[in-house]
Amino acid sequence: MTEPKSPNAHPGCRHFPLCGGCTFLAHTYVEECYRKESHVRDLLTPMGCRVERILPSPRQDDWRHKVQLPFGKIRSGKGHLPTLGCYATGSHDVVDQKECRIQDKALSNIAWTIRDWASREKIPVYDERTGSGYLRHLLLRKAHSTGEILVGLVCNGPRPLHYRALLKTLLPACEKALRGTDGKLAGIVQDVNTRNTNVVLGGEEVPWWGRNWIKEKLGPYSFHVELSTFFQVNPYQTPHLYDLAKAAVPHGSRALDAYCGMGTIALWISDKASQVLGLEENPRSVQAARAAAKANNVANVDFACGDVAEMMPKLAHEGWDVVVLDPPRKGIDERTFASLLESRIERIVYVSCNPKTLARDMELLHEVYRPLYANPVDMFPRTEHVETVAVFQRR
Ligand SMILES: C[S@@+](CC[C@H](N)C(=O)[O-])C[C@H]1O[C@@H](n2cnc3c(N)ncnc32)[C@H](O)[C@@H]1O
Repeated sequence: MTEPKSPNAHPGCRHFPLCGGCTFLAHTYVEECYRKESHVRDLLTPMGCRVERILPSPRQDDWRHKVQLPFGKIRSGKGHLPTLGCYATGSHDVVDQKECRIQDKALSNIAWTIRDWASREKIPVYDERTGSGYLRHLLLRKAHSTGEILVGLVCNGPRPLHYRALLKTLLPACEKALRGTDGKLAGIVQDVNTRNTNVVLGGEEVPWWGRNWIKEKLGPYSFHVELSTFFQVNPYQTPHLYDLAKAAVPHGSRALDAYCGMGTIALWISDKASQVLGLEENPRSVQAARAAAKANNVANVDFACGDVAEMMPKLAHEGWDVVVLDPPRKGIDERTFASLLESRIERIVYVSCNPKTLARDMELLHEVYRPLYANPVDMFPRTEHVETVAVFQRR
């Protein structure tokens, strides 16, 4: 394909609105916050929920510390060259991205450098229609507190036999890309994904160089973040989001942290709750959460690995006082609802990244749980997304 042109390129970004990312780029930040807050208010006030003022992000640009981009092809003479960027809105055409104002600068430098490296090394790009080719996605993570960067190459096949030769050109290129930034390369790993699927990671990790994790600090707690473990992507706003959740956890309570990822909320509330149990289905996240609790000397926190829906029926009758729910965008499933409604849990602190499913779930909880208030939080400036912390009390 040839590079699609943005129909109305904006002075703030040459890829707007084609890339579909920064829906609010043409608005002031005040207007964006007002619209996001109104959206949450329109959805939740009909159910008697008080909606507080939105918490704006301390930073509107360069905030994204995780980058996940597909490789594509761009016509060049008689052949094709690798390109890298997001999908153009409503298609699987890859925009040849040259800039992204919401991405951390060091990550942007590395991303474009790896595209050029792949082009120089003539590494074939995966074609989802034929299943041929090799490079599928580039995944980058940066730890805000340490500057450490993890590079993940998602490839359609095993590690190349000549990967050491490839490293001889890749490492200096990355080093050059990071000059003048606060980023430093901590590791390069390959994820093998040979399936014909839209799921980005295949799950089999192969080392290329360095570590398969980066060290990140949130408040007083440190974590080892890997390619596949969930970690909030806006480090400037995450502590504020977690503070709002913590404010709603009663002192001395026994708390569940459901959908806990690497246990970041569990640790954050551990000095206020008497006991915390985190629930998470990704075994690597649970491993990382247990390691973090140990490394940070937090003794009143434990983690269980499995589906929340499977674990909740038993936990619902074990005398927990409060549950923090931080589900994926689709919200809470029916079985988890049934357990919550039958439980004796007094308080629900619902951290939602999708106001529509939050509104649906508020309606389903309504007979048993009274919504006290909801606080929109802008975790994703310039995009259409908004996070909300909603607090419920058993009637
Ligand atoms: C939005 S993230 C929240 C993670 C964490 N609270 C944080 O702030 O970093 C949702 C997490 O729920 C996990 N998850 C999704 N569905 C699940 C399920 N049915 N049971 C348990 N965990 C699940 C995902 O693996 C992911 O780590």
